[in-house]
Amino acid sequence: PARLVVLVSGSGSNLQALLDAIDEDPHGFGARVVAVGADRESIAGLERAERAGLPTFVCKVKDYETREAWDLALTEATAAYEPDLVVSAGFMKIVGKEFLARFGGRCVNTHPALLPSFPGAHGVRDALAYGAKVTGCTVHFVDDGVDTGPIIAQGVVEVRDEDDEAALHERIKEVERRLLVEVVGRLARNGYRIEGRKVVFP
Ligand code: GAR
Repeated sequence: PARLVVLVSGSGSNLQALLDAIDEDPHGFGARVVAVGADRESIAGLERAERAGLPTFVCKVKDYETREAWDLALTEATAAYEPDLVVSAGFMKIVGKEFLARFGGRCVNTHPALLPSFPGAHGVRDALAYGAKVTGCTVHFVDDGVDTGPIIAQGVVEVRDEDDEAALHERIKEVERRLLVEVVGRLARNGYRIEGRKVVFP
């Protein structure tokens, strides 16, 4: 199976969805999580990893003199687990040059909006504030922009009049978790090519 390193910053429910799907069909899924990394301590995402018996690592920006030094440390910590794919599952940091040099084309991110609309750290809040009537989630490859890389798959969620950010995000995450599991499994099992902005499955 393909080796996955999953990066998290928060509750880790997307990580959990991957772990559950792999548990359900360890041979068929086509991938396994070999380590979980984070940019902060004491988050539920790391607890989920520990509960699953997985090695974890933490690289905090403030522990390094420069952003570049942090990026290099994150790259090396990730590379130590020799992943075939890196999954950014609620990882709230923009990775840098070193990371992309090493994992470009092999790093998948999930974002809670329909890109290219509402990129950045507040995709749900921004869609709501704009008055969008549909939004959703996007699984895409990471490139050197903010949520600009080639799109692999998207899921649509309708905005309700009574939605606040938390309620809308919760409905998006239900769709998102299924989409991420489906995409990661497909990438791992089938292989893929990136042709410009297009992700091609054989
Ligand atoms: C997810 O909705 C993910 O799309 C979002 O954080 C949530 C993490 O949830 N990521 C971003 O907003 C990245 N810009 P989780 O920790 O429960 O998996």
